[in-house]
Amino acid sequence: MAEKHFKYVIVGGGVAAGYAAQEFSKQGINPGELAIISKEAVAPYERPALSKAYLFPQGAARLPGFHCCVGGGGERLSPEWYAEKGRIELILSTEIVKADLSSKSLTSAAGATFTYNILIIATGSSTIKLTDFGVQGADANNILYLREIDDADKIVAAIQAKKDGKAIVVGGGYIGLEISAVLRLNNLDVTMVYPEPWCMPRLFTAGIAAFYEGYYANKGVKIVKGTVAVGFDSDTSGDVTTVKLKDGRVLDADIVVVGVGGRPLTSLFKGQVAEEKGGIKTDSFFQTSVPGVYAVGDVATFPMKLYGDMRRVEHVDHARKSAEQAVKAIKASEEAKSIDEYDYLPYFYSRSFDLSWQFYGDNVGEETVLFGDSDPASAKPKFGSYWIKDGKIYGAFLEGGSADENKAIAKVARVQPAVSDKNVLAQEGLQFACKI
Ligand code: FDA
Ligand code: NAD
Repeated sequence: MAEKHFKYVIVGGGVAAGYAAQEFSKQGINPGELAIISKEAVAPYERPALSKAYLFPQGAARLPGFHCCVGGGGERLSPEWYAEKGRIELILSTEIVKADLSSKSLTSAAGATFTYNILIIATGSSTIKLTDFGVQGADANNILYLREIDDADKIVAAIQAKKDGKAIVVGGGYIGLEISAVLRLNNLDVTMVYPEPWCMPRLFTAGIAAFYEGYYANKGVKIVKGTVAVGFDSDTSGDVTTVKLKDGRVLDADIVVVGVGGRPLTSLFKGQVAEEKGGIKTDSFFQTSVPGVYAVGDVATFPMKLYGDMRRVEHVDHARKSAEQAVKAIKASEEAKSIDEYDYLPYFYSRSFDLSWQFYGDNVGEETVLFGDSDPASAKPKFGSYWIKDGKIYGAFLEGGSADENKAIAKVARVQPAVSDKNVLAQEGLQFACKI
């Protein structure tokens, strides 16, 4: 099979690839210099839409509406844009199955070879499957996962096939909370199951979680905590019918959606690049241990300047910004110039039902302060939380904030102001942030 050479190759065609393409275009590239090679059949799109607007019962988002970079306020890079304006080669439905960093070559599942001068690894994450742990019956029909648009299409088809049926959502993290809400909006009878004492324990405090659990319950979502799915039954067509829980309960199910975490897709490069904390280790410019090879988005473990440690971040804001930083660094190095180090302030967000929260900073410290109206029955709940470490605020969360209020909590997380009295902070709440 023919070999194709490009000056720059991005392997992976998700969020980071889309924002890298935008940055390459801003910086200036010649036609045919850049290729994006993606397993997916569509041009890079804003992945967060898949667990939200893509599954709405009415007015659902569809491509080309949410191609990158609309989520970040940029231009919508349609497939035509890549061909005509970006002059970037989009090589879709092409999975890279072998990477040889010493010979600078990639091989696709169909046997095509691509060589490059500079490589950007943007392969993102894969979903952890219940079949990975050998959960009995987990290969039944309608046990679904969500990572890519094909997965979302399977969920849409299942919602239509099992109208007003019973949905069990396994996992109480990001996917669990967002999917439960949207399945409920589709009028399914939804039950969430997760092992922890409260939802989203990797970020939420008990106080924050109590609000979301109460709000979801008011919307008719049932929650089963402290147990896991250990088996599934299916009918003669292979469709799932029941979920067996470790605590002995058995729940009826027409659809099961599983969100039990992701794994960074680094296996192509194992043994060829340095790794740390499960990701590909990079410097502040996202260059890996191999010169000319960069890693961005979910797969990168990079120096978090603000906290003086190495981190991997699985959120869209970092996917966008890391991709832009890597492209700026590549272009600058070609002109023997330098750019500033990546100085990232972690930013995560989620939306479900009429809710919308943002979090900035680090959820660390010995103390947290909950403020505002966190009554799930309130007509317009608005509340937040601060995380305090060594007498300073490190993290700030806000549900229902305006754009300016969200900016204020971001500033608090960046500035890390000292806190003298927790009770005063709790009383001042959002006002404290607005004064910084
Ligand atoms: P991303 O997963 O976007 O892209 C990786 C791409 O590489 C995919 O196209 C994949 O097919 C391709 N690929 C992988 N291996 C390949 C190979 N061997 N050959 C070719 N192609 C290959 N974050 C947030 O902050 N707020 C939010 O609301 C959400 N919502 C959300 C919803 C859903 C459903 C998911 C799954 C994730 C989110 N996220 C999020 C997380 C966010 O979307 C995620 O962090 C970014 O998409 C990461 O961007 P990457 O480009 O690193 O990976
Ligand atoms: P997650 O890590 O957020 O949550 C995983 C959850 O799975 C845990 O909280 C736990 O409740 C549960 N769990 C673990 N093992 C289990 C088991 N055996 N049975 C039942 N529950 C179990 O991961 P996710 O929700 O699957 O999300 C996948 C990826 O997508 C992550 O990278 C996430 O950051 C990303 N994502 C982000 C957003 C957002 O930022 N708004 C939205 C959707 C997805």
